[in-house]
Amino acid sequence: MSDVSFKKQDFKDIYNYKDSSLYYQLGVHNLGGDDRFEAPSFYLESVLSEQLLKVWQREMNKPLHMVDVLSGYGADTLLYTRAFNKQDFAKMWGTPGNLYNIHKPPLFPVKTFGCDSSQNALQYGKDAGIYDENVTVDFNNMTPEVEMLLHEKCREANIFATNSIGYLNDGVFEKLVEWFAEGTEPGLFAIGFVYPFDGVEGGRAQKCYLLGKLDFFNSLPVVYRSPTKDEEQLFEEYHVCGRMVYETWYLTRRCEQIISYN
Ligand SMILES: C[S@@+](CC[C@H](N)C(=O)[O-])C[C@H]1O[C@@H](n2cnc3c(N)ncnc32)[C@H](O)[C@@H]1O
Repeated sequence: MSDVSFKKQDFKDIYNYKDSSLYYQLGVHNLGGDDRFEAPSFYLESVLSEQLLKVWQREMNKPLHMVDVLSGYGADTLLYTRAFNKQDFAKMWGTPGNLYNIHKPPLFPVKTFGCDSSQNALQYGKDAGIYDENVTVDFNNMTPEVEMLLHEKCREANIFATNSIGYLNDGVFEKLVEWFAEGTEPGLFAIGFVYPFDGVEGGRAQKCYLLGKLDFFNSLPVVYRSPTKDEEQLFEEYHVCGRMVYETWYLTRRCEQIISYN
């Protein structure tokens, strides 16, 4: 658990609602959190999918596998498979009649897998067609069976996306990275660090760990959400000027197989 994440507003209710509407309105849109999708969706469409993902998919001639860890309702799955931007989320998650209606096709053939402790969020993601498969898991208390399944899914992943790692107990993040690194196919690891919630010193240690196991590709910092009323004091303490920062790191798996990017 990061040194700061326990001071974050408790969003349990909206993480466990029956669909994505409350999470989108209260946890994302009303606080300006949907700005974090703008540059990454453009970067995915213009660079990552052109130079890596579509090339891998074509050369392997099979659907890519995407694993979304701490996936919630599937925002990152929509971002990394369909380049969902702020407008797309407003159209789908901000419009009551559209919650189960994905208006944008995947950029390449892909099979998606969500994992989170919220059964409702995962069920919504499956019913809406965001996830092909999912597993309900508390990452801080994994059963041996779920651990085995996740190990396999991470090893097979060609796209691994995560954020909210401040919720993980010590050692869990390293285990996930290790599992992903063991894979033999090309793979992209995309991780969102939120300043200050994901920890300040902890974030440094995680970045160093990543650099020891994977190859750095790029990073992309964007503005994230404003504080809730309860978080204002914390923002002052950490010298956050108005909006938090969401920094995505993109890394690639070290593997023998075809990786033709320039
Ligand atoms: C801020 S949300 C992020 C969801 C998604 N990645 C996104 O960007 O919209 C954090 C998610 O972490 C999940 N979560 C928190 N602690 C967890 C744990 N110990 N095990 C599994 N999931 C957890 C919550 O249920 C919630 O869906």
